[in-house]
Amino acid sequence: DPPSPPGPLKVNGTKLVNDRAHPWKPLQQDDIRGPCPGLNTLASHGYLPRNGVATPSQIITAVQEGFNMDHSTARFVTYAAHLVDGNLVTDLLSIGGKTKKTGPDPPAPASVAGLNTHAVFEGDSSMTRADFFFGDNHSLNETLFKQFQDFSNRFGGGFYNLTVAQELRHQRIQESIATNPTFDFTSPRFFTAFAESSFPLEFFVDGRNPVRALSMDNATLFFRDSKFPVDFFRAAAPTGAAFAQQIFSAYPIAAGKNVNGINTFTPDPTSADFSNFCLLYTNFVTKTVAGLYPNPTGVLKRNLIINLRYFYAPIADAGCTELFPYGQL
Ligand code: HEM
Ligand code: MG
Repeated sequence: DPPSPPGPLKVNGTKLVNDRAHPWKPLQQDDIRGPCPGLNTLASHGYLPRNGVATPSQIITAVQEGFNMDHSTARFVTYAAHLVDGNLVTDLLSIGGKTKKTGPDPPAPASVAGLNTHAVFEGDSSMTRADFFFGDNHSLNETLFKQFQDFSNRFGGGFYNLTVAQELRHQRIQESIATNPTFDFTSPRFFTAFAESSFPLEFFVDGRNPVRALSMDNATLFFRDSKFPVDFFRAAAPTGAAFAQQIFSAYPIAAGKNVNGINTFTPDPTSADFSNFCLLYTNFVTKTVAGLYPNPTGVLKRNLIINLRYFYAPIADAGCTELFPYGQL
């Protein structure tokens, strides 16, 4: 069976994480990186397997140890990703593109194609990666990264801070509405977009720094080079998506999509949003996961049941009704 997730950190304050045991190393042939600068950095420092293929337990350990992501956020995000992008039989997930290293594939329509897979977890209007419609949804896009720096200069005095996060999140949504005919900003992307705009403030700023402001030198290291700054200390306390609501509130927008080409953004009342968090869980299980696995059997079915439990556990306190589309063990 897939093992229970690792527990929370026992010692959970700030500490040096760019240490001797975790040196940055350049990519070797066939090493995989993807759309997440956090996981890319953990892999390039050996907190995750350097080849970019990892188990959910390895990811949960690494994001806690390397960045002090809180235990609930780490579990919720990791099992969400694993359920849609990972191999549930071998318990392996690629942090980027599809690879044979995750083992034999289950039957279609499951894709097991890693975090690069569009529209199940990865989504539109990322800060530094282009929309899938334009081709490459996972590599750092130089034009977008220049805009990230430009906004940090204009609104943050040269730093990515909360004001920059709010302005840039709004800008990226407006750009996608105006240029991407397939723009989709429904759940889960509706949530991940605001969470990921919060992450650089929480995780890429040195844990000894009381000011939530990320320098452009350090942003370049994380987003482009998958590299910790010299002498980098992780966050001072466990955290995860702490500023998402404030980033949303600066420019509130309904979950929705361009329904008929560019500039046709239309709210989708069937999507979850901040007023209905449980619908995120419900839609993810009954639409996204069930869509990929309509009729699983054997070990695959068993592991779906187990991974769905691991996905639910961190939100049990939110009062959402647990769902069992494949029954219970
Ligand atoms: C983006 C997965 C943890 C920082 C993403 C994306 C995925 C992902 C699939 C692409 C979404 C998109 O922009 O379209 C995960 C998983 C994690 C995790 C499965 C497991 C816990 C982290 C951590 C950090 C982080 C710990 C920070 C240290 C970011 C940022 C982005 C992002 C800043 C946005 C990139 C951009 O908009 O250009 N993540 N992530 N993530 N992730 Fe992660
Ligand atoms: Mg994206």
